[in-house]
Amino acid sequence: MHEFSFRNNEFYCEDIKIADIAARVGTPFYLYSYKTLIDHYKKLKTAFQPIKPLISFSMKSNSNLAVIRALVKNGAGLDVVSGGELYRARLAGVNPKKVVYAGVGKRSDEIKDAIEFGILFFNTESEDELEEIQSIAGKLNRKVNVAIRINPDVIPKTHHYIATGKGESKFGLDFDTAHKIFNMRWKYPNLNINGVHVHIGSQILDAKPFEDAIEKVLEFLKARKIDVEYFNIGGGLGIIYSIENPQTAKSFAQKVIPLLKKSRLKIILEPGRFVSGNSGVLVTRVIYTKRTPRKKFVIMDSGMSDLIRPSLYEAYHKIVPVKVAENSSETCEKVDIVGPICESGDFLGKDRLLPQVFKNDLLAVMGAGAYGFTMASNYNARPRPAEVMVINKDFYVIRKHETYRDLVRGETIPKVLK
Ligand code: LLP
Repeated sequence: MHEFSFRNNEFYCEDIKIADIAARVGTPFYLYSYKTLIDHYKKLKTAFQPIKPLISFSMKSNSNLAVIRALVKNGAGLDVVSGGELYRARLAGVNPKKVVYAGVGKRSDEIKDAIEFGILFFNTESEDELEEIQSIAGKLNRKVNVAIRINPDVIPKTHHYIATGKGESKFGLDFDTAHKIFNMRWKYPNLNINGVHVHIGSQILDAKPFEDAIEKVLEFLKARKIDVEYFNIGGGLGIIYSIENPQTAKSFAQKVIPLLKKSRLKIILEPGRFVSGNSGVLVTRVIYTKRTPRKKFVIMDSGMSDLIRPSLYEAYHKIVPVKVAENSSETCEKVDIVGPICESGDFLGKDRLLPQVFKNDLLAVMGAGAYGFTMASNYNARPRPAEVMVINKDFYVIRKHETYRDLVRGETIPKVLK
């Protein structure tokens, strides 16, 4: 469920007319519903109440300061994947003891910052990385928690770009290497290697691959007599974009809690999309429409530079008009909704049945709260869109539209070229 709905043919975010926000803010912009965001976090929290896990929101899905602050204020931790995300997390006032840090390529300066901040866990993915963390922790005279990310060789049904738990993917370590590390914990005096981590992929609709991965890891710990305190089961819960029928937080929890409870380990979850995905839409305006002998195109002021998921993964995002005309069902036609970028892969939706739209009409691209703005770019020298959040009766610009000046910030023309 989310808080975007039609009332009298006008599309609303919570109790605010989206057209009114567009008139004040200017398009394109991402629009988030605070209520939807927090509701989704709470759904997971409630479902997992029997084992009281740490829920660290995966910031890569949405790292706007207001979004992460809202979650932090409601008790969430954060899953970070870079020094930049750690910087944002700190600005949002997160409790360091609720921060976990994943990623195959953490740089030494990033590791140092995270140790100094006092994060709960590094999720470590190679022996090289363990040595690097050991060396930095040694110099800082600190003892840090490390979890070994295990690649359980489970293949979830999802787009191959976002499946991470297959044997041949770059993520995690195989069971034998993980075992070897656990046997040599003495080699790392400044590391407390007391956790295991798995994350098998994203937009997974069914609990089975999660159960398989959890079972495999628990079996590994038991069979090889490895003692740890924490088990981070990652993120990856799928959401509804169109006709998906994903597990609910409750049904997912019912399946995995019995396994996790038996293990008596402390549990960490790092959901991203489940929390933020349906809490955001991208609001964009029709610049032109045009008909060719084969197709009708609706050309928007937003495209792959703002929301790359359709181009990159052929992801489906539902697209709705922000205002629907009375006779809309009679005027529906099939159109391609495309952006202004010079790439034929620049589209938001193809062959969509849409009521007739005209220049200046507004459309909302649904399910854009996760991996929307965070994957936006300045391709074609386009300023990135604004971000807006509705909280109770008001809306707030939580990130301004970028300007042309922002586009060239940091660039200089060397004297020899002047
Ligand atoms: N934990 C780790 C270690 C991850 O790598 C990820 C996502 C998550 C948690 C959160 O996964 P989620 O709950 O959001 O599925 N750009 C792609 C998704 C890439 C996911 C990367 N890792 C997309 O737009 O679908």
